Amino acid sequence: MGVFGYIGKNKAIPVLVGGLRKLGFQGFDSTGLAVLEEGGIWITKSTGKLVDLESKLSARTFTSTVGIGHTRWATHGRPCDENAHPHTDCHGNFAVVHNGIIENYLELKEWLISEGHIFRSETDTEVLPHLIEHYYEGDLEATVCKVLNKIEGSYALIVLSCKHPGMLIAARKNSSLVVGLGEEECYLASNFSAIPEYTKKTYVLDDEEIAVLTDGRAQFIDFQGKTKEKEVCEVNWDASVVEKEDYEHFMLKEIYEQPKVLRDTLSGRLADEKVVLKEMSLTPEQITGFNKVAIVACGTAYHAGLIGRSLIERWAKIPVEIDIASEFRYRSPLIDDRTLVIVLSQSGETADTLAALREAKRLGARIVGITNVVGSSVSREAHDVIYTWAGPEIAIASTKAYTTQIEAMVLLALYLSQAKATMPQEWNREIITELKRIPDKASEIFMQVPKIQHMASYIKESSSAFFIGRGLDWAVALEGSLKLKETTYIHAEAYAAGELKHGAIALITENTPIVALNTQRELYDKTLSNVNEIKARGAQVIGFTFKGNDSFGQSVDEVLYLPETINELAPILTVIPLQLLAYYVSLARGNDVDRPRNLVKSVTVE
Ligand code: F6R
Repeated sequence: MGVFGYIGKNKAIPVLVGGLRKLGFQGFDSTGLAVLEEGGIWITKSTGKLVDLESKLSARTFTSTVGIGHTRWATHGRPCDENAHPHTDCHGNFAVVHNGIIENYLELKEWLISEGHIFRSETDTEVLPHLIEHYYEGDLEATVCKVLNKIEGSYALIVLSCKHPGMLIAARKNSSLVVGLGEEECYLASNFSAIPEYTKKTYVLDDEEIAVLTDGRAQFIDFQGKTKEKEVCEVNWDASVVEKEDYEHFMLKEIYEQPKVLRDTLSGRLADEKVVLKEMSLTPEQITGFNKVAIVACGTAYHAGLIGRSLIERWAKIPVEIDIASEFRYRSPLIDDRTLVIVLSQSGETADTLAALREAKRLGARIVGITNVVGSSVSREAHDVIYTWAGPEIAIASTKAYTTQIEAMVLLALYLSQAKATMPQEWNREIITELKRIPDKASEIFMQVPKIQHMASYIKESSSAFFIGRGLDWAVALEGSLKLKETTYIHAEAYAAGELKHGAIALITENTPIVALNTQRELYDKTLSNVNEIKARGAQVIGFTFKGNDSFGQSVDEVLYLPETINELAPILTVIPLQLLAYYVSLARGNDVDRPRNLVKSVTVE
């Protein structure tokens, strides 16, 4: 879901449609836009794909140079044209698009109805234009401030009014919103990736901030109407990275981009014998003072965090706990000013992750954010930020963000261990040398795509699959199974290989495909015997291991040999064939690979 706005000298409709297309990667079930035509607000909405909206628009010629648009993912009310945004007031003077949730909408709606307002949708958003209508006395800015002080919840919203044709007003609270500054024109978008095609100059709105766009200028005020100064931020993404180029899907393109983005993420951060994280402002004394690290994240980012946990404990010798962000606050975590909290989030906008970040901050912890989006909420609210330079990730299933998150965790673990001098110098040199080789080794994996396509044939008809491994392989198994689940809709479970025989092995029959990972040297024999136990039950096993591990290769039905690397870096390579496996199974099942059902790219509700 996303909001987009344009005000300038060009025709608004093509710009709005282009912006909505860019935002479309976040998933949506309906779209809509509003422009000013013949002195009034002209709204077009459609359930379904953007082409459906475009075909409705083609029935008329539009001249407006100002407008707002929206891609909706239903939360309040089913997906249908009535519930699609923009929403308007009773007289069609104000139109609003909104991302997020108005938590107190029911009481506001009841009150507005008692005041004579007529509602046309089931959405929470519709209270906004009615509130504006109710309080409006000629000054749109002042009215929006007043309305924002009445509502509770999270929002990135844009207001268009035919009473103020040269103006757009936008506001944010707990939901991202960016202003793009062109030549005598301004853009608004809920995600950075919709902007670089038009301009590289952006302003990132802070929480509880309002942008007033007029005459190609952007001015900023807070919710009390007080003027705020803001600095322009240059987006470093090229517009071409948000195109599919020659790939059939974004997911495939992003899988193939991994060697490059892995290189980018290391760039400037490795000296011969040490990691250089200029962005980190912690002193060695502060690092030595931490008695605990806590990691919080959701989904794929959580899986990268699991790897980080092992690395920090092994290398920096600091105890680490890890939580799924949505659970963090509810177990009353023992966090204080001696805790280093690592928050991982590709988008930097995941609601649960942000809530965990804020709770940890409230408890006095020091926060390091690992995120892919410059200017995102995580990047602004953390004390220190390590960016993954993965570029925009468009496919809903995360791939390149995950491998670069692991790299960022490797860098951070090394940085902490260097400060504490917990590992010998020689070891640092070895690991850094190997880290530099990882992008090339990632490229080597693509030579085995035909093998992976063949492996996909073992899974494509199945209703259930298991991913197993021990140690870091288990963490990667969790990510591999999530990739398969979300893109293929096959039930997939990841199990610690040694745990299977404590129950889940009962589910394994002759037709159950098992993906077995065996890259952790000290666990090799143990995983091998777990695989043999499964083979004895007739399951079909697809194995991933390093070259030379022939006993494992001979025990499984199909094997893919990975380029060799050290145990701790293996996850970066092991996951790549698993991403491809999910991709090819999804393709074989005819799914919408880039936009799997029921999923959105950035989960901005708790
Ligand atoms: C899975 C996936 C999700 C995200 C999760 C967290 O492929 O993309 O599991 O990893 O929603 O998102 P971020 O990293 O943006 O906080």
